[in-house]
Amino acid sequence: MAVRDADVREAGMSLNHQRVVVERGSRSGQPIVVAVHSTALGQAIGGCRLAHYADWRDGLGDALRLSEAMTEKAALAGLPHGGGKTVIALPPGTVLDEAARRAVLLDAGDVIASLNGGYATGPDVGTGPADMVTIGERTPHVFCRPAATGGSGDSSPHTATGVIAALRAVAAERFGSPSLAGRSFAVLGLGRVGTHVLRLLAESGAHVVAADVDGSRRAAAEQYGATWTDPHGCLTAEVDVLVPSALGGLLTAETVPRLACSAVAGPANNQLDVPATADLLHARGILWAPDVVVSAGGIVHAVAAELHREPAPRITARLDGIGETLAGILSAARETGCTPAVAASRLAQFLVGERATPTLAAC
Ligand code: PHE
Repeated sequence: MAVRDADVREAGMSLNHQRVVVERGSRSGQPIVVAVHSTALGQAIGGCRLAHYADWRDGLGDALRLSEAMTEKAALAGLPHGGGKTVIALPPGTVLDEAARRAVLLDAGDVIASLNGGYATGPDVGTGPADMVTIGERTPHVFCRPAATGGSGDSSPHTATGVIAALRAVAAERFGSPSLAGRSFAVLGLGRVGTHVLRLLAESGAHVVAADVDGSRRAAAEQYGATWTDPHGCLTAEVDVLVPSALGGLLTAETVPRLACSAVAGPANNQLDVPATADLLHARGILWAPDVVVSAGGIVHAVAAELHREPAPRITARLDGIGETLAGILSAARETGCTPAVAASRLAQFLVGERATPTLAAC
């Protein structure tokens, strides 16, 4: 399948990606997109998303946006890696039995293998460590296989550890103390990462309201003492911090006016529908922590554990470093009047070599 310029434009991007491969899987017949945004700092990394799309071009758009964000995420996390993403774009309503799931994953593995190490994948929305074993039958460039098969396993607890470090930095910036005890949070999305974040917040003595589109997550929320609500109630809850932990695009010109929180910080990727939404948050006095910084714990852990075989305490220090990076971005934004989004992306541009200096002129 050729990627038409019009498709790229429709997806809202100019093609500034290094390489985009779109293939119909030879086993599964399903569209597989692997987008390599940048390898300026090293091998591109980014998870494999398995999701339903009305049109495969929507999956392409997701891959383009998410891979670009991965470049910033890896750079801001101090990793010698670029950004990429795989999207397996299933038509609406497709149900994969075990054999069909295996077929799409092997197909994705073949596309990744064809990039000869320029890109390595890992789990993302819709995939987990067991799926990485299947992809790993076709390519060695795969993170987060279960420990028993030589990988670093589920990355979600580590992503959550990084989120907590980020939330402490947000609390310090906004409320003058990094303590989470007694503060209130609304966790929207109780997937693998969201559930770990909820648990860690509860353990820190925070008050938590939580929601998920899947009502069966209620028991998990209540197990940790959270108050269950519906997604709209969670989005608009009067809390200190809203923690987006589900799919992206949550923050829009429609939702921002309804927020009743002081800050937004969570692991969901691509939380802003368009970059300008950061200005709406800023204008409302809501502190937004860029998701590319907050959500880096998964890749930080996987790279440190699998490629560099670092000991656990060293990796924990790296995850805590996410809080320090965010604190630096938030204070640079405060001092210059820029949004944290602008501060983060200017720093990322400096780190990937696209800007001569990380210094922000006043905005
Ligand atoms: N889903 C992870 C992210 O968005 C991707 C990932 C995790 C890739 C771990 C490699 C290793 O950051």
